[in-house]
Amino acid sequence: MKRIVVIEGDGIGAEVVPQAVRALRAVAPEIELVPAEMGLVSKKKTGNYLPDATMDAIDDSDACLFGAITSPEGDPGYRSPILRLRCELDLYANVRPAKRIVPDIGMVDLDLTLVRENSEGMYTGMEKERGGAVILERKVSDKACRRICRHALDLCEKEQIRRITCVHKANVLRKSDGMFRRIFYEETAGRNVEAMDMLVDTVAAALITKPREFGCIVTLNLYGDILSDEAAALVGGLGMAPSGNIGDHYAVFEPCHGSAPDIAGRGVANPIAAILSASMLLKYLGKQEGARLIENGIEEALRNGVRTPDIGGHHSTKQFGDELVSIIEKE
Ligand code: NAI
Ligand code: MG
Repeated sequence: MKRIVVIEGDGIGAEVVPQAVRALRAVAPEIELVPAEMGLVSKKKTGNYLPDATMDAIDDSDACLFGAITSPEGDPGYRSPILRLRCELDLYANVRPAKRIVPDIGMVDLDLTLVRENSEGMYTGMEKERGGAVILERKVSDKACRRICRHALDLCEKEQIRRITCVHKANVLRKSDGMFRRIFYEETAGRNVEAMDMLVDTVAAALITKPREFGCIVTLNLYGDILSDEAAALVGGLGMAPSGNIGDHYAVFEPCHGSAPDIAGRGVANPIAAILSASMLLKYLGKQEGARLIENGIEEALRNGVRTPDIGGHHSTKQFGDELVSIIEKE
């Protein structure tokens, strides 16, 4: 039996994750769900942002579904628990699908899966002050390039994505990004997928002007960070954007958004990003049918006009969950 750790976290995390859990229970009641704590609420309750009990539960499970946490202000020793998880569990692939689900939400007809290298690049934190300047060491390794390309290619195979684009800035960063591009073509050789590469600035524009040209994008940390937010905005915003932090042995699935203190407690947060994260989790566990039921259900609920305010509707978080569960139960 599969066991999943469920961490609601702070703010709207505690509002959207319960709806994702309802969807999970509706399509895969055999999965065991283990609640755990993380974030600011956890700190107040247990004294820890990431309690040992949560780490133990994670060690003892197949994957994790996580909502969002609030970063504390004025805690100089603070280290983000989600960053700690990514690092300790070596969750090197950040996978962010951005798909327009219905034609009247979002701006362009995008159906993209973005795979972002999540362990090095610009985000190594190695900044040094030297002679009135700050020098940043950016790390791009053969190992990281190879495993992220392989991960993206395996995903293309599994999800029948026909085209993969390597996104880089190798015209300027010749050695580092040049190596990434070279490894990309080494890894795509012999694979049944159309492989191409593009400069990151070109892609920033092309996502808007030629969205249908993209299937999968594989890219380095900083580019992926920026392009995935752009892609999310193009398909309806943060409330629609799921993600997975995936390694060779474990994965944490979470909506891309944060705890949204500006709307927390009002019951109006869009739960779709969290529910789609649960659907990614099901696919990770090999439960494709459950994922399909959830995705079709979301599409039908949106077509029925059940929408939260961020996507132009007037329904509550729970009303969306009610509609989805009733659609799934009719199947
Ligand atoms: P945010 O993503 O929480 O909110 C940005 C804007 O999008 C807000 O106006 C919010 O109301 C809206 N929004 C986000 N998710 C939504 C949803 N599901 N439905 C409707 N509207 C939604 O980012 P912000 O405000 O910069 O950060 C708030 C807190 O969350 C901070 O403490 C930040 O550090 C934390 N954060 C945590 C993340 C995580 O847990 N992985 C990721 C991003 C931010
Ligand atoms: Mg999140």
